[in-house]
Amino acid sequence: MKVRIAAESELGEGKTVKFVFERQGRQVHGFAARFRGKIVAYENVCRHIPITIDYDDNEFFTEDGNHFICQTHGAVYEPLTGRCVRGPCPGERLFSLPVRTEGGVVWLVGEGTLPT
Ligand code: FES
Repeated sequence: MKVRIAAESELGEGKTVKFVFERQGRQVHGFAARFRGKIVAYENVCRHIPITIDYDDNEFFTEDGNHFICQTHGAVYEPLTGRCVRGPCPGERLFSLPVRTEGGVVWLVGEGTLPT
């Protein structure tokens, strides 16, 4: 599986891009971000309650740009690991999605792990 997420140039430092892909016939919403030069991607699902982290406004980072934050109850996640470090779900991790940069494009290259 290989799904185009965005041009690499769209994902500058501190930027996020949302995307949708299919897993076993169901739509999965994800987001990719660049943090400290590295591109990461996760399902757009909070680990407190399974709803989106943003309010459909593509705002994932805290004001200081050091973490992702869920807009509903403020769960705070480490961008590089997806680990929740503050808020209602400490220790839980966002569902990671595999990405690769190739030819100036950021690709989703797998479905990630099915949430249990
Ligand atoms: S739904 Fe994300 S912190 Fe509650």
